[in-house]
Amino acid sequence: MRAALFRAFGNIDQLQVEDIPSPVPEKGQVVVSVKAAGVAYPDVLIAQDKYQNKPELPYSPGGEVSGIVKLVGEGVTRFKPGDAVIARPGSNGCREEVVVPQGVVWPMPAGLDFNVAAGFGSNYFTSYYALRDRGQLKAGETLLVLGASGGVGLAAVDIGKMMGARVIACASSDEKLDICRQAGADELVNYEKEDLRDAIKRLTGGKGVDMVYDPVGDKYAEPAVRGMAWNGRYLVIGFAAGAIPKIALNLVLLKGCAIVGVLAGAHGMRDPKHYRSIIGELLELIHAGKLHPLISATYPLKRTADALNAMLKRQAVGKVVVTI
Ligand SMILES: NC(=O)c1ccc[n+]([C@@H]2O[C@H](COP(=O)([O-])OP(=O)(O)OC[C@H]3O[C@@H](n4cnc5c(N)ncnc54)[C@H](OP(=O)(O)O)[C@@H]3O)[C@@H](O)[C@H]2O)c1
Repeated sequence: MRAALFRAFGNIDQLQVEDIPSPVPEKGQVVVSVKAAGVAYPDVLIAQDKYQNKPELPYSPGGEVSGIVKLVGEGVTRFKPGDAVIARPGSNGCREEVVVPQGVVWPMPAGLDFNVAAGFGSNYFTSYYALRDRGQLKAGETLLVLGASGGVGLAAVDIGKMMGARVIACASSDEKLDICRQAGADELVNYEKEDLRDAIKRLTGGKGVDMVYDPVGDKYAEPAVRGMAWNGRYLVIGFAAGAIPKIALNLVLLKGCAIVGVLAGAHGMRDPKHYRSIIGELLELIHAGKLHPLISATYPLKRTADALNAMLKRQAVGKVVVTI
């Protein structure tokens, strides 16, 4: 079978498509013939050797897939060959077949598109867990989303609207903001053109925002903290802009706000039951049309490196999927 493979860390352009043996399932494992694999910013960071968790070499990018069950190992009762499923292997998705433990496989609702099914899990799990469980977002609150047209950002806009928040979406271009508007954002801020703190004051009548969702970091973090309302929650999601911001704690004290770390994958490993239930819940919400993941670009397997480079170059909006 064909696989997009990294044999070393350091450079996205080292990725090559190679023929490798098909996997054979062990006890409790499922082999999925992959139809689509979702890639995300952590795939870029892993390839560049800048991520906290590393897969074993050689590996394929792509933490989540949709496809058809090809083989099941001993003791697998919930799935059989031919079933349409989603699976979250963590890595190794960008290949024709992937082997996973049955605990990270879910049945795919009939009629759900394979690209959507492969592309919602990581972003929507992160943002749902962040907004609902870590931040406890309430209907009527104001939610500011940085990097709002990106993978996790756009999911936060979609989920924030579903939860009844007033959503202020921030991004670096008017084209990206248009995507946020289509996803339901109430207010749009181009943070490359307008000072973020001034924009927050303008849009909240000086009260500030109740929640900040920050996957970007760097120069936007401090004005966002300064723009928080009393009892606000600042969700630390990631540092796509590179620099990890340092926030003076007197600001947190004066604002009476909380800075809340979110590490969705680690939560999933510590509480697999909760993780399974969130993914199941999200699948139902998407199938019912209450959430709307945007798959903005698809790449064939041989162009997997281009998919990663699009994210590196800040060109990706929503979710990028590799089709097989
Ligand atoms: N904590 C968690 O559990 C968790 C889970 C998943 C992902 N993450 C992290 O969240 C971050 C975003 O992931 P993602 O998949 O949403 O990425 P993405 O789709 O590439 O979006 C990142 C956004 O960040 C903004 N950005 C600002 N400066 C950038 C730069 N120099 N390079 C790239 N993007 C830049 C871009 O928006 P503008 O151009 O509009 O500024 C872009 O839309 C990553 O750091 C990732 O590791 C965290």
